[in-house]
Amino acid sequence: MLIRDLAQVATPAGRSAPLRGSDLAAVDVLEGAYVLCAEGRIEAVGRMRELSGVPGDAVEIDGRGRCAIPGLVDCHTHACFLGDRVAEFDLRARGASYEELHAAGGGILATVRATRAGSEADLLAAVQRHRRAMLRMGTTTFEAKSGYGLDRETELASLTAIRAAGGIPTWLGAHSVPPEFADADAYLDFALDEVLPPVSTLAEAADVFVEEGAFDLRQARRYLEACRDAGLAPRLHGDQFTEQGAIELAIEVGARSVDHLEATGDRGVRTLAASDVAGVLLPASALFLDRPMPPARALVAAGAAVALATDFNPGSAFCESLPLVCSLACTQLGLSPAEALAASTVNAAHVLGRADRKGRLAPGYDADVVLLDAPDWRYLAYHLAGQVVADVVVAGGLAGAREPAATRA
Ligand code: NIG
Ligand code: FE
Repeated sequence: MLIRDLAQVATPAGRSAPLRGSDLAAVDVLEGAYVLCAEGRIEAVGRMRELSGVPGDAVEIDGRGRCAIPGLVDCHTHACFLGDRVAEFDLRARGASYEELHAAGGGILATVRATRAGSEADLLAAVQRHRRAMLRMGTTTFEAKSGYGLDRETELASLTAIRAAGGIPTWLGAHSVPPEFADADAYLDFALDEVLPPVSTLAEAADVFVEEGAFDLRQARRYLEACRDAGLAPRLHGDQFTEQGAIELAIEVGARSVDHLEATGDRGVRTLAASDVAGVLLPASALFLDRPMPPARALVAAGAAVALATDFNPGSAFCESLPLVCSLACTQLGLSPAEALAASTVNAAHVLGRADRKGRLAPGYDADVVLLDAPDWRYLAYHLAGQVVADVVVAGGLAGAREPAATRA
């Protein structure tokens, strides 16, 4: 496939990952350019006037008036759930808080009830539907967590559905304590004895919600150490509402990332920046819950490896759009469009252990390309909730980016 006559090709510069500090803003931009893909990989990127040696059977895509950026990578979603929380949304809009709803048996546990009530086929259809929505918005690689089953059968069905829908599965076995258990320790006894063994061959990573009312530091350590010993990469939901020491625990267990960080203070910023753990920022979640934004500028300035993600879920971030997250990164987090691009491509791919293949438009990388309907690649963040994605290429083939809503399951 040859994508020709592009107004611009924009990609994070270099080959290393994760990008930190001033490297996060280094974007290579070529004007009047092409992207040549073969066998699912990028073969060449360059200026039109230097284009030569195009195979006669290449499929040509007209890039006039468009810009190419790497396929976006959503490294934190909860895209495997049934039902919705629209009634809670209504209550929140009229003043109820997320924590109040959670404490009253709503919140995560409301979605656990709805998810347990469905079949494996229902779950697969749901993840596939969300995947199509993400694809239309430029996400070509997505992680998705379980965590709305919290029993053996539904957790396994969730991870199987995520895999079947093309997602990268994370076992969020420690999301909330389900009602059939007396306390978090009793639940973890069950989860680690009965669910972890089969999960360890299905999931790539394990995640825990470290928070008052969810799992404390000691419980999170126990869960993550057992998961790590079973071969899963540790990740944490940390500092969302309160600082509980999630950053220190992430470093201690060698986690890939600690995600949220809305409540992180100066010390946490410095500690995270000095470590190998990435900070995943979820501004759509902070916006949706009307919470303070995470200290993104301070994290980048201190040298932390930051990534952006949607946190797509029915309660705290009902949003599949990484372009919208990039807009929020620029308007609410103080990042530049270049930093937002790197944080939602290369650095997000790093969090998923795929930065050698995903997140850049350069020879050898997977041919995942987003074509923006814009004369300048920065429209990605500039066009607030606009239909900025014209077409999406996945593994060198055009994906149904404009699939009509009527065909959705
Ligand atoms: O990342 N904080 C914990 N988990 C999700 C929310 C899940 C839900 O509300 O259903 C989050 O925000
Ligand atoms: Fe989350």
